[in-house]
Amino acid sequence: MPTKKKPLFGLSDALKRQVASRRQDARTDPAEEEISLAAVRPSVQPVPARFIDPAKLPGVQEYLALRHTASALGATDPFFHVHEGIPAATTRIGGREFINFSNYNYLNLNGHPEVSASAKAAIDHYGTSASASRMVSGERPLHGQLERALADFLGTEDCVAMVSGHATNVTVIGHLFGKRDLILHDALAHNSVLQGALLSGAKRLSFPHNDWQALDNMLRTLRPSYERVLVVVEGLYSMDGDFPDLPRFAEIRERYKTFLLVDEAHSIGVMGATGRGIAEHFGLPRTCADFWMGTLSKTFSSCGGFIAGQGLIVDYLRHTAPGFLYSVGMSPPLAAASLTCVELLKREPERCRALRRAGRMFLELCKAEGLDTGGSAGLAIVPIIVGSSMGALTLSSRLFERGINVQPIFAPAVEERQARLRFFLCCEHTQAQLETTAKAIATALAG
Ligand SMILES: Cc1ncc(COP(=O)(O)O)c(C=O)c1O
Repeated sequence: MPTKKKPLFGLSDALKRQVASRRQDARTDPAEEEISLAAVRPSVQPVPARFIDPAKLPGVQEYLALRHTASALGATDPFFHVHEGIPAATTRIGGREFINFSNYNYLNLNGHPEVSASAKAAIDHYGTSASASRMVSGERPLHGQLERALADFLGTEDCVAMVSGHATNVTVIGHLFGKRDLILHDALAHNSVLQGALLSGAKRLSFPHNDWQALDNMLRTLRPSYERVLVVVEGLYSMDGDFPDLPRFAEIRERYKTFLLVDEAHSIGVMGATGRGIAEHFGLPRTCADFWMGTLSKTFSSCGGFIAGQGLIVDYLRHTAPGFLYSVGMSPPLAAASLTCVELLKREPERCRALRRAGRMFLELCKAEGLDTGGSAGLAIVPIIVGSSMGALTLSSRLFERGINVQPIFAPAVEERQARLRFFLCCEHTQAQLETTAKAIATALAG
């Protein structure tokens, strides 16, 4: 009597077939490899110097030119500042205290005694590293507990947590979509979305920022030419501090039968009465989108990313997404820290209200000073648009001299005329700090 085979990681037959066909695709024919090596060997020609000089790699010269101009202007280098404590509403750099707008510790949970205590306890119990892929060598209870807590918090069937927010978008989008598919993303989508789309091999197009009507028009003509279509939007845009009209995008998803991924990196803990993000803000059910992506590095104060959604797909990703399967599990103290943050967020939703109050107040103060705040909704992100990369660099440098730490953003991250400073608020920013800052920006711009 034939023995019954152990099921492959508990996957269904349909999933096993998909996994097997992907493995098949990845195999290289050894005979083909032989032929191509043979073809290359005799034709070794001198290689032009520009192809072997690291300084001639694409973009390196532009980078050097920008650094040169900035130092000629005497601008302080705004990057790689060394913070000597926990960056929050204030921070210490080079022994000096600054009002700080350069991190995503939105709810001031990084450094919260309960968060630090749970991370320390996890180190004592499990050590500092998961050491290997969870699927291959096993996980810690904290991994499952964190994923369950996030799924319950958001109201999805399941959730899988990975070691990086950026890698989560890359691997999930790259893994689920292919060359007969179409990916349409907001023009201001995060780099991780673009990288995921590139990896997938799908046709990738952007639609103008927040413009659901343009998306509708694109889908009207393009939808019939592709198998699957993925639309990607963010809950709150980190460059502009504005957000999409999600009900419109959800309706378009229904009408054109697309998938919808909402990147909530900046909206969880920020939007919605209890910080559950853009769906809560609009009172929409979680079923209005297919994938709810989030990061653990901002509101959840550690490092990692997650995808929450339908149980089947999350389970499929847990067993097959390369960025999960072939990468280490989250380190136990980081998983513990984020788990405690979810609990704190449920217990203390007033942190979200305080953050939004600070955001609104700063937006109004900046507008009163006549500053260009773009389309900011005054939640947790307020840009001050300066209009040139050099202008943004100089303003950031002047503010630094006045004891204010804020990051400039310039081309190619945004168009040159959209170069700006980005102010990230946290729930502990005080009215006095915000008033001082708005005045200092106006003064520095005038000088
Ligand atoms: C919209 C968005 N998605 C994804 C990421 C990546 O997250 P992480 O920095 O945690 O890797 C970021 C990072 O800032 C982001 O802004």
